[in-house]
Amino acid sequence: MMNWYQKNIVPRLLNSEMGSKELEEIRRVVLASACGIVLEIGVGPGYNLPLYKNISKLYALEPSKELTDIAKTRANTLLFPVEFLNTGAENISLPQHSVDTVVSTWTLCSVSDPKKVLQEIKRVLRPEGNFIFVDHGASPNFALRAIQTGLTSVTKYFTGNCHYDRKLEELIREAGFIIKKIEHPHEQFKPLIYNYQGVATLS
Ligand SMILES: C[S@@+](CC[C@H](N)C(=O)[O-])C[C@H]1O[C@@H](n2cnc3c(N)ncnc32)[C@H](O)[C@@H]1O
Repeated sequence: MMNWYQKNIVPRLLNSEMGSKELEEIRRVVLASACGIVLEIGVGPGYNLPLYKNISKLYALEPSKELTDIAKTRANTLLFPVEFLNTGAENISLPQHSVDTVVSTWTLCSVSDPKKVLQEIKRVLRPEGNFIFVDHGASPNFALRAIQTGLTSVTKYFTGNCHYDRKLEELIREAGFIIKKIEHPHEQFKPLIYNYQGVATLS
């Protein structure tokens, strides 16, 4: 039953949830600095694809076949080559130091092992490359964080392993990245969401 739900309902939910105008505005800001050979982890329904400017190639990593099929419908008219990688970001099938930019938009909240994913991002990123991200995670407010943890015990089952309470800034720093820029954009009418948007580098 749960497998059926993950396969048939979650992709439809994400296709409708992730396509809002408000998220599109945040996506535009985040993706403006993507350049060169780009790896996007957890492409999902592909809402970022038409927003990339000035990139030479995109590796579009997504473990769900159903979401990849939706993303492919948004990849038809792009001016750069797109190669889909059907795998989790815990094991990225690219050589070390092979990409200029790694992008993660609302994916670190859903991966099974964020520490392993961050090590893989470090491995494939060129030493002077950028890891650009936006995601919702743990609020610095203790009371709100307790509610986020309660909510996560439900959402991880029903919205594709989505966690509301990951300490993203801490996880990124502990993985060995230097955070060059971090902001916390608000989403209207979503008081439980605490977004982390930023750029991290290796040097
Ligand atoms: C909330 S959706 C975000 C989708 C997309 N990044 C966006 O901005 O619309 C989370 C995405 O993470 C993907 N995901 C889940 N586990 C993953 C993993 N281990 N590695 C890579 N992506 C994963 C899901 O399949 C889904 O596409």
